[in-house]
Amino acid sequence: MGPKAASGFYLGRKPAALLALLLAALLLALAVLGALYGRCLQEVEELRAAAAPPSPTAGPEEEGAGCCPPAPSPSPGSTRPPGVWDNSRLPRALLPLHYELRLWPRLSPGQPGPFVFSGQVNITVRCAQDTATVLLHSSELELWGAAVRGPLLEGPDGGGGGGIEVAELWLKERQEYAVLELRRSLRAGGRYVLQLSFRGPLSENLDGLFLTRYTDQGQSSMLIASQLEPTYARTVYPCFDEPAMKATFNIIIVHHPSYVALSNMPAIDTSEMKDENGSLWTVTTFNTTLKMSTYLTAFVVCDFDYITRTERGNEIRIWGRKEAIKNGHADYALNITGPLFSFLEDLFNISYPLSKTDLVALPDFGAGAMENWGLMTFRESTLMYIPSDQFGSKKAMICLIVSHELGHQWFGNLVTMNWWNDLWLNEGFASYFEYIGASYIEPRLSLVSTKGASIIWMLSSFLTERLFIKALSSYLKAFSFSSVNQDDLWTHIQMVVDAQNEVQLPASVKKIMDSWTCQNGFPVLTFNLSTGIISQEQFYNKRTENNTTYNNTWIVPISWIRNGSAQPLVWLDKSSKMFPEMQISDSEHDWILLNMNMAGYYRVNYDPLHLKRLAQLLEKDPKAIPVVNRLHLIDDAFTLAQAGYIEIESAFELTKYLAKEDEIFVWYSVLSNLIPDNLENILNNYELYPFLKKYLLKRILPIYHYYASIIHQNVDALADDYFDQIHLEKLINTACWLGLQDCLNLSSELYTKWMENPDNEIPFTIKRTICCYGVAMGSDKEWDFAWKMYNHNNSTEIDKDIMLFAMSCTRESWLLYSIAASCGSHSSGMGGMSGDGESILGVRNRKDMIEQSIAMLMLHFSASLSSPALTSSRSFPWLPDGPLLPVPERVRIQCVFPNGSLQSHLGRGKSK
Ligand code: BES
Ligand code: ZN
Repeated sequence: MGPKAASGFYLGRKPAALLALLLAALLLALAVLGALYGRCLQEVEELRAAAAPPSPTAGPEEEGAGCCPPAPSPSPGSTRPPGVWDNSRLPRALLPLHYELRLWPRLSPGQPGPFVFSGQVNITVRCAQDTATVLLHSSELELWGAAVRGPLLEGPDGGGGGGIEVAELWLKERQEYAVLELRRSLRAGGRYVLQLSFRGPLSENLDGLFLTRYTDQGQSSMLIASQLEPTYARTVYPCFDEPAMKATFNIIIVHHPSYVALSNMPAIDTSEMKDENGSLWTVTTFNTTLKMSTYLTAFVVCDFDYITRTERGNEIRIWGRKEAIKNGHADYALNITGPLFSFLEDLFNISYPLSKTDLVALPDFGAGAMENWGLMTFRESTLMYIPSDQFGSKKAMICLIVSHELGHQWFGNLVTMNWWNDLWLNEGFASYFEYIGASYIEPRLSLVSTKGASIIWMLSSFLTERLFIKALSSYLKAFSFSSVNQDDLWTHIQMVVDAQNEVQLPASVKKIMDSWTCQNGFPVLTFNLSTGIISQEQFYNKRTENNTTYNNTWIVPISWIRNGSAQPLVWLDKSSKMFPEMQISDSEHDWILLNMNMAGYYRVNYDPLHLKRLAQLLEKDPKAIPVVNRLHLIDDAFTLAQAGYIEIESAFELTKYLAKEDEIFVWYSVLSNLIPDNLENILNNYELYPFLKKYLLKRILPIYHYYASIIHQNVDALADDYFDQIHLEKLINTACWLGLQDCLNLSSELYTKWMENPDNEIPFTIKRTICCYGVAMGSDKEWDFAWKMYNHNNSTEIDKDIMLFAMSCTRESWLLYSIAASCGSHSSGMGGMSGDGESILGVRNRKDMIEQSIAMLMLHFSASLSSPALTSSRSFPWLPDGPLLPVPERVRIQCVFPNGSLQSHLGRGKSK
């Protein structure tokens, strides 16, 4: 309704006059409405004043009661004069101390939509500066019944205080503010209560307070949960929605009696009440929270079961669908959560301050997990462990995710970043402790992930872990229940550094760390070993002339070894520096390696001669270099080659020794660099295939045979090994892709056994590969079986995806062609399937399936179709040597591209 014309387009004179008239009429209508509403507000206020103190525990009948139509939509902010409401940050005139919050999601089992919730909030604030304008966050909420009371009497009860009339309530939509303009100013020093009633939609879009549908024990059900980080609290209740504006909360949830309600704190009371229609509702009251940020408040209303255990007085409950709980899927999470809590408590020397913790597995959830204080929420697949699920690596993932969210209970919940620009303080530390905690539970899980976590890992390495944890503990204690920016952390670390003389730094902690956190990217160090000069420049994925012109410099800690012995840490604190102790002799026995244990967040570019020397060292004694460094040496070399810093030949030098490499870790890194998961790359590199085949086959044999024998004997031995699981798939897949006969035979054998007896299931990790090559090595019998399993009642989405992919691996051109040719109306009549009838394979031709197959087919073929290699069997290197598969280009044009299905499947090929 704002004067839109002003901002964009010109009006002729006649329409302008009309518009003016319209506006006048509108203004009049508004004035009348306004007067009515004003009177109405006044009446409500009088009512409230009579019933003071307003209590959110009052019956819901009173919500929306009185003469007011709910939320006479307040006038838009654009017509308002400039004011505090234009700032994106809340003014500090009012600071929230305590919320009395009552939420009532109107949901009953089986009820049809639309779904809404209503609520009431009383916020006690301390006034820091006189003000007659109250700003609160509110978004997507209808508001009414605004009232202000105070100043309250000092003392715990805080009674007293008359009403302060609210002249106007309006919304500043862009900033997501509700603005209360008062007739009198609130006075600095006083405490006041802001009161609002509100109503909002229960969306199904997984943020704010949302509803999701799921099935449990064969029945469809609904539940309500919340996701408020970063700024969705304001869509659930009007609040001061900034992380630093911490307060305590008394929360009440009104819900259908067949559900249980959960929030951050333990429930302390439940009672019953009737609504205006006489229906019964349960009122669950929760204990007062600690001082906390709004984004960490959380609400769940569901019909879940749980299992529980108490650890050091903290009652831990894992909630999930009844069938999942009954089948023991929550057991693993329950087993690790208690020990993880104790581990972190001991590490930080700070007790977890709550008496209960709920971890809820949501069938549908937008984030992977969320650390709400005392009520963590997870996607079901990231919390529930299915023992029969062959995908054993899930245990490790659950362990990492739980430990990440537990890390947040200290880093994030107890001590919170001041503002979202320091989000890395939350996430970086949680990611760091995710690994520390997880490797406590599962010792093989070691480093390291994101930039935030890597920078913290670097910090802890150059400080020594002892000083680092000491500093963190004092930082957490100093800032508990309040908020910080990164300088607060640096100050605390500096204090610990200054109080000792074991660790000497080249600059202040702040200066060193700012060079990492305030600049984009990270450096690549170029190391000239004959001069001992190390220089640094920003690393770019694609090096070009002009991107090297910025001269960002980092203060880089360099840990290094010479000939196998660790050397004292050195620092590179300018763009280039000479380290005489790092000059190397001509002897091939003299070698240096930088960045031990990956303690620094940078890549290293050695001169080619030295790379060669390291390569020779590896050929003589692969274990001369620790495994983490072997992995990163190779990874750095390939990354630098791809980015144009070094020649690819230098990188290949380092892989000559691989026949002697028995760590699947290192192999994984090599194979991921050489044969990225992205199929297109391989297809475009058809020239490379014969070379790779020759080069890699002889080197991969030893490790392949080692793992193939495990697959034959006892794959369960790998079941819990996260790395072996994901790495094994890559290894086997590569071996088959290279045409290793043993691998193809293994695939045939496992696939045939499965065909003969459904109990002979293929280990999940390698199922995609085995099925693909099982079908490729077989004929229509194997293909039919894949089709049968694709349609099997018990087959999950992942199973379907695997079988579909397997079908596209056949080397029987007529099978491929039969699917291709019968794609919908584009049927060319050459294949065995036609229209929607029975195919010659005896299977029903389901059009959607066919279309998906085409997409998968084209995934295999699209890139090579347009290449000159089309006529060579080498253009399909993933297939064993055999007859050429001439899929006509016509099929691609007619069937795939018109409906876009290729596009939609490209990203899915190999993802898990
Ligand atoms: N707090 C985050 C989720 C988040 C961050 C939501 C920022 C909204 C804005 C949570 O702790 C998290 O990091 N979740 C991860 C999974 C985790 C194990 C890495 C996620 O959701 O991807
Ligand atoms: Zn996180």
